[in-house]
Amino acid sequence: MEGGLFRGYLTPAYAASQEALAGWMESAGMTVRRDGAANLIGRYEGRLAKAPALVIGSHLDSVRDAGFYDGPLGVMLGIEAVAVLHEQGRRLPFPIEVYAFGDEEGSRFPAAMLTSRAVAGTLDAAALDVADAEGITLAQALPCMADYLDARRDPAATLAYLEAHIEQGPVLEADGLAVGTVTGIAAQLRYAVTVKGMAGHAGTTAMRLRRDPLAGAAAMILAVEQLACGDNSDVVATVGTIEALPGAVNVIPGEVRFTIDVRSGSETRRNGVAEAILARLREIAEARALELDTALIHDLAASPCAPALMDLMDEALVAAGQPVRRLVSGAGHDAMVMASLCPTAMLFIRCTGGVSHNPAEHVEPADVEIALQVMLGFIDRLGENFAA
Ligand code: GLV
Ligand code: MN
Ligand code: MN
Repeated sequence: MEGGLFRGYLTPAYAASQEALAGWMESAGMTVRRDGAANLIGRYEGRLAKAPALVIGSHLDSVRDAGFYDGPLGVMLGIEAVAVLHEQGRRLPFPIEVYAFGDEEGSRFPAAMLTSRAVAGTLDAAALDVADAEGITLAQALPCMADYLDARRDPAATLAYLEAHIEQGPVLEADGLAVGTVTGIAAQLRYAVTVKGMAGHAGTTAMRLRRDPLAGAAAMILAVEQLACGDNSDVVATVGTIEALPGAVNVIPGEVRFTIDVRSGSETRRNGVAEAILARLREIAEARALELDTALIHDLAASPCAPALMDLMDEALVAAGQPVRRLVSGAGHDAMVMASLCPTAMLFIRCTGGVSHNPAEHVEPADVEIALQVMLGFIDRLGENFAA
C-alpha cells in the first residue's frame, strides 16, 4: 500500500491529473471547462450549432492502492476518439463532450458518484454534507460549494452517454475477446454499520464479562458472507472497510464501524439478501448485548443500457472485425447514474485475469486500439442515425 496509487477526489493528485488531461483535450481540438462539481469537461463542436451533445466519460478518481486503468482509460479513450476526428478534420452533426468525473469510487468521502449525480440532476443537496477521514468537508475541499448543483446538464442538450471501461471481470478473457457490449449494470446497496459495546482492559476483564463489539462484528461479517453465498444467485456482498476504536493492542474496543456493499442484477434479489443480513446482524447484536446502528448510505437501481445503442455498438464491433459479445456489469459505473439523464451505452475492454481494484490491473495496448476503433464506429453510426 505504501507508495501505491491513490487519486482521491479533490486531492493534489486529482488536480495534477486534471491539468494533464486539460492539455490533451486542448491538443485534441476541444475547449476545456470545469463545472461546479469539479468535473473536467472538453467540448468538440459539431456541425449543427443547437444539436444535443454526445457525452463520453468515465472517472478520474481511484480506489486506494489502485491500478492504472479503472476510470482514466475511459476518459483517455474519449479524448483519443476526438483527437482522431480532429486530425481528420471531421465534425459530427452533434458536439461531443468528454467528461472526467470526480468521485465514482467514493474512496475519499462517504458517498459515491456525487459528481455524475450532480450532472444527471439526481443529487440531493443534503448528500453534499460529507467529510473525509481527516474531517475535511466537501465544502472545504471545493473551490466553490455554492455551484455544485449547477453541474446539472440539460436533458434536451444531451443526446446520449458513452463509457468505455475495463471489464474488471474474467468473461472477455475466458472467451478470447478484446471487447464486448455491456447490457446493463447491477443494482447496488451500501450500509455503514456501527456496533457499540464496552471498552475495557484487555488484561483484567474476564471473558464472560465482556461486551466486545469487534468479536460481534466478526460474527456479523461471516454472516454477510454466508447469507450472500447461501442465496446461490448473482448476489454478492462485501465488507470492505472496518475500524476498531480506540484501536490499541491492550484495549477491548468500545466501538467498531464497518461497511457492507450488496449487489445483484435484480433489485428484488439484492434487497432480499440485504434484509436477511440486517435481520441476522440484529440477532447477533442482541445475543451479545451490543448496540447496533445500520445506515443506508448508497442505493442505486440496476441500470439497463439503451437497446438501440447496444445494437449500434454491436454493429461497430462487427465493423472492427470483432465478434459480437454482450455482457452485464457487476461493477458500478457513472453510466448507471447518467441513465436517468439520457440513453447510455458501454463498451468493456478485456483486462488480464479479470483483476481490478488492485495494482496488478492490466490491459493490452492492442485491445485498447480495438476499443478506440469500436468507439469511432459507434460515434459514426450515431452520426448517421442522427435526426436533427
Ligand atoms: C466501482 O468501482 C464499484 O463498482 O464499486
Ligand atoms: Mn473502480
Ligand atoms: Mn471504474
